[in-house]
Amino acid sequence: MIPLILLASLLAAPAAVSAAPPGPERLFTRGEGFIRAPVNTIPAKIPSLRPRQNEVLIENQRTGTRYGVDIAIGTPPQKVTLILDTGSPDTWVNPTCQFANVPSDCRAFPRYDYTKSSSVNVTRASDILLYGIGNSTIQYVYETVTIGSATITGQLIGVSLESHEIPLGILGLSPPIRGVNEYPYILDTMQAQGLIKSRAFSMDLRTVDSEEGALIFGGIDTGKYIGTLAKLPMLPPAQTPRGADRYYVTMTGVGLTYPDGRIERSQDINVPVFLDSGGTLSQLPTPIFNAFVASFPDAEYDPRSGFYFLPCEIADLAGSVDFYFAGKTIRVPFKEFIWHVQGFCVLGVQPEDVEPVLGDTFLRAAYVVFDQDNRNLHLAQAANCGTNLVAIGSGSDAVPSATGRCTAAPRPTPAGAGSNLDLSATRAPAGTFTGAGPTGLGVGPGPAASRISTSGKLEPTETGKPNAAGRAFTPELGVLGGMAVVNAMAMVF
Ligand SMILES: *[C@@H]1O[C@H](CO)[C@@H](O)[C@H](O)[C@H]1NC(C)=O
Ligand SMILES: *[C@@H]1O[C@H](CO)[C@@H](O)[C@H](O)[C@H]1NC(C)=O
Repeated sequence: MIPLILLASLLAAPAAVSAAPPGPERLFTRGEGFIRAPVNTIPAKIPSLRPRQNEVLIENQRTGTRYGVDIAIGTPPQKVTLILDTGSPDTWVNPTCQFANVPSDCRAFPRYDYTKSSSVNVTRASDILLYGIGNSTIQYVYETVTIGSATITGQLIGVSLESHEIPLGILGLSPPIRGVNEYPYILDTMQAQGLIKSRAFSMDLRTVDSEEGALIFGGIDTGKYIGTLAKLPMLPPAQTPRGADRYYVTMTGVGLTYPDGRIERSQDINVPVFLDSGGTLSQLPTPIFNAFVASFPDAEYDPRSGFYFLPCEIADLAGSVDFYFAGKTIRVPFKEFIWHVQGFCVLGVQPEDVEPVLGDTFLRAAYVVFDQDNRNLHLAQAANCGTNLVAIGSGSDAVPSATGRCTAAPRPTPAGAGSNLDLSATRAPAGTFTGAGPTGLGVGPGPAASRISTSGKLEPTETGKPNAAGRAFTPELGVLGGMAVVNAMAMVF
């Protein structure tokens, strides 16, 4: 019924225009040049912001399915928790919980109420955003967005009118998937408003044991990684599997480090993979997936969920699943690679032969700098040895080549020689899981799949305010335009 209500209110007469939004508010001054945001696993807790450092934390969730960032929208600022997603470019908030996979999860979080914001300015544009899992019909509004102590004004964001499967809104930080911005995304606006010098951010999801990771816009934290950052060029869209512009880099090998220090490595491979914080598990080509499954002979396939369960004791062993790139190896401790959910331990990889993804089960062990301006990713092994924030400047050498302050823990000397991880292994896992598995698992949205665009204009409207009834937006039905919306709504009824 929701769509009906919306349709009705979309037809309602526009309300009187209230006071104009306040002018730009630059809390962030003197070009410190970075903004740090905590990243939390969901459910989130309200982070303590350190105002001078302009930071936002990422909360960690031991058994969580998504990483969230707390930011604020509107005037006065309303706190919302958004899913941190490097696999999609759009940022939107989600006041509608009705069709969330677990509606109570959705309702547990504060939701944006545009009727309480003096800075909202709606447009007549709407889109349907399709994700790997779920979709959202959004209407675009201009709003003030506060990240840490930095305030971005006039940012175009979506307000969801109806979302399926996705419990919270999304903070989208990918490049435009199709190579052309539909409008300036958050990272673009931050740079345009002088909050950061380049369109770059670093991400530290942190381990399952730590309270919080961090997202740093325009900066890096050399207290969060070991050794050097390896610079890997982002693959141009023409070289990616579907021609999409994502954070793709080339993976050159995979392997395992056993608890006794023995190392197995595959032959050299050349596999494009993209880094997606919105993906709960990693998804890798079938031969790699098979090799990993064969390496964990205790894994049992659960036909109902499609996951491979492992005895949780394996997560406590000292080994790692290893990913090789030019000039860098990221060793993902079993503890991070295995997803803990509802008392079950799930192997952190699924098969995917078209668009391989390194998701959270990889990113928890990596420190990554995403440099859109220079189209590079910088990778290092994540660690935690304090905080030392360094700003990212501008130009081709913007990302400082600062060595991480952390040192690697010593590894045991292998008793025997290493060997090949055989990527032609076809051995089936030991068994099939027959017990009662976890229920209602909501994994991350996965990458943005596509957008059904309407023809609505992205300009702010003169009557750009919620209507007096406070029910929905003011644009008339007609200006939502486009068959796509009409079709989608028809599908819902
Ligand atoms: C929305 O933005 C337009 C263009 O900047 C402006 O003319 C209008 O007054 C704004 N409306 C409201 C309600 O803030
Ligand atoms: C959105 O997701 C719901 C639930 O999976 C589905 O029924 C609907 O068709 C989807 N809408 C679009 C436009 O894909």
